[in-house]
Amino acid sequence: MLSRLRSAAVFGVEAYPVQIEVDVSFGLPSFTMVGLPDTTVRESRDRVRLAIRNSGYEFPPHRITVNLAPADVRKAGSSFDLPIALGVLATTGQLAPTTFNDTLVLGELSLDGGINAIRGVLPIAVAARRLGVSRLLLPPQNAAEASVVDGLVVCVARSLGDAMEALRSPTTSARRSSRPEMMTTPCDGDLADVRGQLLARRALEIAAAGGHNLLLIGPPGAGKTMLARRLPGILPPLTFDEALECTAIHSVAGTLPSGSGLLTWRPFRAPHHTISNVALVGGGAIPRPGEISLAHNGVLFLDEMPEFDRRVLEVMRQPLEEGRVTIARAARAAVFPARFVLTAAMNPCPCGFRGEEHRVCRCTPGDIARYNGRVSGPLRDRIDLIVEVPAVPISAIADAEPGEASAVVRARVVAARDVQHARYGSDGPRMNADLRGIAVKTNCEPDRRGRALLLSAAKQFRLSARGYDRVLKVARTIADLASCERVEREHVAEALQYRLAE
Ligand SMILES: Nc1ncnc2c1ncn2[C@@H]1O[C@H](COP(=O)(O)OP(=O)(O)O)[C@@H](O)[C@H]1O
Ligand SMILES: [Mg+2]
Repeated sequence: MLSRLRSAAVFGVEAYPVQIEVDVSFGLPSFTMVGLPDTTVRESRDRVRLAIRNSGYEFPPHRITVNLAPADVRKAGSSFDLPIALGVLATTGQLAPTTFNDTLVLGELSLDGGINAIRGVLPIAVAARRLGVSRLLLPPQNAAEASVVDGLVVCVARSLGDAMEALRSPTTSARRSSRPEMMTTPCDGDLADVRGQLLARRALEIAAAGGHNLLLIGPPGAGKTMLARRLPGILPPLTFDEALECTAIHSVAGTLPSGSGLLTWRPFRAPHHTISNVALVGGGAIPRPGEISLAHNGVLFLDEMPEFDRRVLEVMRQPLEEGRVTIARAARAAVFPARFVLTAAMNPCPCGFRGEEHRVCRCTPGDIARYNGRVSGPLRDRIDLIVEVPAVPISAIADAEPGEASAVVRARVVAARDVQHARYGSDGPRMNADLRGIAVKTNCEPDRRGRALLLSAAKQFRLSARGYDRVLKVARTIADLASCERVEREHVAEALQYRLAE
């Protein structure tokens, strides 16, 4: 006796169909799994057996073989538990296998027959739609995520018994999914809390408007962390497509809050400086996204950047350039999107007080060079805005007026993004910082005076070709914030200021 059920698995952020075949034949009792299951999948044998028994069904004392097709792709995870158990029940005549063909089944079993949440449901739901499946049978915690996709019937099962019941009942028609409203990322506070620091505030606004990477350099207590943590509050809300991309990544990583559907705000990720290579860029035998992908369409904040292992920082270089990360594995490569705004903070020297008026810095030139060297030249070259953040004296903080509120700044950022969207269209780059190669020249070419200024600065400060393009892109964003069609000299001058401050 043989039964077949449809299931699916995820590689990278793409889902692919997996057919679960269960055969029960006479012979000595055994439970074999083929089709490249890894240990996590093989463990499902015990869960399946006990869940079936503890739910009051009969587990056949025969030879059971489970095949996961395609057999040449390695499978991991616990999401095949439920389809395997249903397959065993169908093969032994405890469940009529009539409605299997239009239903895709996923879920992890617990020993009492309960069903637990799994990862990667959104990409699977998208693929199910493409494969012509009309119904998904899922753990209840994953239902919100699956119902983001239009045209699918989402059935939930809390237990193996529920799942049997759901499969026996006929397929109902699909609801149209509702699109949730996009929101601003909840932040530590408002920009109005920051007194003074006009240059850094301006840099934050430019970074948000054009998607530029930003480095804040200043002594301890200057407010670097405070400023950086307020960046997500001035970013425009996600578009629906961006939200789908972010949700798929977080779904695969297992970082979606339980029971949540679409992610409705831009992610803000602030990993600790002890983070490993794999945790930052992603990896593993079955590749999982790292922090740079979890920050996709949002902000990656590296506080105290020189404290990060230098090799860890260097692996970010390529993703910073390409907006995605490719993790090569023997069989095939997984690609994760990783287009984020990098925001970093550091002190000017190891003790932190270099250049401070009332403090003494005892760092030697060697100490300072070593400290700065931890953030390599090529990495700095990928940071468009470098800003000095001097400490604001306590008296000045107490007396100063509150700064402009985040909502006011965000309105200007949204307007500048609209200008960019109108210029590049929906298929082009999303932001000025995404421009590459010839597109920089065609979109950011300054007027005659701006060009003259840029050429002389490039010579004087030995700008690299990449550095030159980056100044142009920042100037374009400054012009967009000012609603100027042409990049003018003053825009170039301001952009240069963020390049040379070091
Ligand atoms: N410009 C400022 N306006 C208001 N508060 C400030 C300012 N600069 C520093 N502070 C206060 O000092 C604290 C420390 O700032 P923090 O961002 O941690 O500094 P850093 O990261 O540069 O060491 C902040 O939480 C805030 O209370
Ligand atoms: Mg800090």
